[in-house]
Amino acid sequence: MPVKNRFAELHDEITAWRRDIHEHPEILFETHRTSALVAEKLKDFGCDEVVTGIGRTGVVGVIKGRGQGGKVIGLRADMDALPIEEQTGVEYASKTPGAMHACGHDGHTAMLLGAAKYLAETRNFDGTVVVIFQPAEEGGGGGKEMCDDGLMERWGVQEIYGMHNWPGQPVGAFSIRSGAFFAAADHIEITVTGKGGHAAKPHETIDPTVCAAQILTALQTIASRNADPISQIVVSICSFQTSSKSFNVIPTSVHMMGTVRTMSNENRDLAEKRIAEIAEGIATGFGAKAEVHYKRNYPVMANHDEQTEFAAEVARAVSGDCNEAPLVMGGEDFAFMLEERPGAYILMGNGDTANVHHPLYNFNDEAIPAGCSWWAEIVERRMPLAG
Ligand code: NI
Repeated sequence: MPVKNRFAELHDEITAWRRDIHEHPEILFETHRTSALVAEKLKDFGCDEVVTGIGRTGVVGVIKGRGQGGKVIGLRADMDALPIEEQTGVEYASKTPGAMHACGHDGHTAMLLGAAKYLAETRNFDGTVVVIFQPAEEGGGGGKEMCDDGLMERWGVQEIYGMHNWPGQPVGAFSIRSGAFFAAADHIEITVTGKGGHAAKPHETIDPTVCAAQILTALQTIASRNADPISQIVVSICSFQTSSKSFNVIPTSVHMMGTVRTMSNENRDLAEKRIAEIAEGIATGFGAKAEVHYKRNYPVMANHDEQTEFAAEVARAVSGDCNEAPLVMGGEDFAFMLEERPGAYILMGNGDTANVHHPLYNFNDEAIPAGCSWWAEIVERRMPLAG
């Protein structure tokens, strides 16, 4: 079965929603306009219940099928944009300086709205669909906040599904994998404190820059010497700032920030332990002091076997095929939802476009019918009407 005919009919309308959202990007929990637009549309579609303010600016819509079955499936899209200056030059480009839909969440929101419209029109399923629109996927933990607000319990969600567009994969083609899929994305901060002074008299100082440079280099041995080489781990220091603003002043301190990406709890524990040992040990050796903060952010996002198999079957029905997806060292807030309920997250091709989080990226509207069809088929096949 190819894409559903109804989505070919709705393609222009859903594209218009997508471009409207694209033109008005909102960051983190500030998705006020987008959330209001989503809630208004869900009410227009005739959803049985529309609730705002879940996880601050999250929106939930409930659609009951014609069958009275007790099964409840959650479908989730993210709504937030990124703090990037858009360079696409498209006529519906961001009107908000410094903000841009550079991860395609505009497309995700529009596609789930399209599916909600169809499902509310047809209701050809036996059970209940809960459509979930979350803010703050890009680092704010909006999915976790929705869960903390009782999302799963309040609507009795039993299974949960999510989707992300994927540049470099053919338009509308799907890929998925079972088990660990997206990495845990943790945040590290290290402050090295020494003793500042005149750059011409280093012997009278404890130079934190030289010490911090050794720490930065040594942290790379966590991946190369401590972790099992078969496993996946990334340790990246991305910000390195000394307290000196001058070319001839040895600073008092150096502040480093970075991230750790892992696919298992073993490596996550290992990284946390080794970063502290390396930073503190090297600092001691230099007569300096290192203060390490390791903050656990998004956990590993792991797909559940049964739901992954089902999601792939639906993808094959829609697009004819479903490939094995690669491991992704990026983080994904949907991880919190998959920790609470069994479910699956799938990647859908965005074609040959710039990559996500790039100022030239744009969601591919040609993918809309396939994405909407996948959502609708998940519901109709998982909760089929009797007879
Ligand atoms: Ni994204």
